[in-house]
Amino acid sequence: MNNIADYLDTLRVSGNFRSIGQHLTQSGLTDLSSNDYLGLASNKELQNEFFGSKQCLDMTSSASRLLSLHQQCYTDLEKQLATLYGRHALLFNSGYHANSGIIPAITSKGTLVVCDRLVHASIIDGIILSRAHFIRFRHNDLDHLQEIISANRNKYSDILIVTESVFSMDGDICDLPSLVKIKKENPGTRLYVDEAHGFGVFGNRGLGMCERDNVINDIDIIVGTLGKAGASIGAFAITDARTKDFLINTARSFIFSTMLPPINCAWSQLMVSHITQMETERKHLLHIADRLSEFLRSMGYNHNSKSQIVPLIVGDPHKVVELSQQLRTLGYIALPIRTPTVPKGTERIRFSLTAALSNATIDQLLSDLRTLLQS
Ligand SMILES: Cc1ncc(COP(=O)(O)O)c(C=O)c1O
Repeated sequence: MNNIADYLDTLRVSGNFRSIGQHLTQSGLTDLSSNDYLGLASNKELQNEFFGSKQCLDMTSSASRLLSLHQQCYTDLEKQLATLYGRHALLFNSGYHANSGIIPAITSKGTLVVCDRLVHASIIDGIILSRAHFIRFRHNDLDHLQEIISANRNKYSDILIVTESVFSMDGDICDLPSLVKIKKENPGTRLYVDEAHGFGVFGNRGLGMCERDNVINDIDIIVGTLGKAGASIGAFAITDARTKDFLINTARSFIFSTMLPPINCAWSQLMVSHITQMETERKHLLHIADRLSEFLRSMGYNHNSKSQIVPLIVGDPHKVVELSQQLRTLGYIALPIRTPTVPKGTERIRFSLTAALSNATIDQLLSDLRTLLQS
């Protein structure tokens, strides 16, 4: 127990102690930290429409997917996603379940996993569970990735490249066409892309960076999540029929966990059909993100964002908490992100914009930020 107390003390002293409950949404505050990228989560009209028509849906599946009696809503949602992507779809309970279940399933001790240095914790956990050997390439440095593949190609039975399309803490994006090229030039290599922050936001129908870059068919497994732009809960893998069957039989997070409630999947279906139509909202979202990005650069706060996630990198855990509190007094929820979520020295406010924010709100935000950052 002493170790636990010491650990907590260390966190407090270093400014990295986290607690739950301080950030509850109060009315009147502008939320700049949610993953509700299209503003669907707060759309009461859609909720009324949904609850008006779906009152009889079950609130639990009461079993894992393989044993559940409620298959219709799951297969309906999978068919909808499969039709959109033109491939096969398999639902998971969350992005965390998808990453931590799929990666161990599709790798073995003879596999080398090569992942971007900044991939999400759920991917890292999946890799650790897989017991495959893994090497991280420098963030978005595809020359480094190629070097690792060339040096190790003959030592492993196969190689799995893993990355995110839109990086969750920096909002920068990976070069999917080049990754596909590397995969094709290196036989025995597969590509796994997490579109948690790309789904809903990029591509004409919101299918993600894979749609924008026209590489849906070139990626072995695409993971999309429904709890962010999807305004729901759950995740899906897009892949080929054989891999889908393989995952149904081997992905432990799929087999050994109670499946999502039918009501959530029905809601997800409604959300997905809305998302495909939200091109105007996507354009607006990327426009306001661009305004915030440019503004921060003009104030000397550099970053590589090319998406709706825009970091204000402060580089000090105490200062970032203070800045977040100052923003709170001005009416914004803009939460501080600290170690271990981001590397030490890159502590930041992670602005995570939604299409529901108006240009006028962004005008006011920029003006308030100017005052704060200059003081
Ligand atoms: C890149 C990435 N993948 C996966 C996840 C996990 O998704 P979920 O919240 O659905 O478990 C997250 C969550 O933040 C994420 O940022």
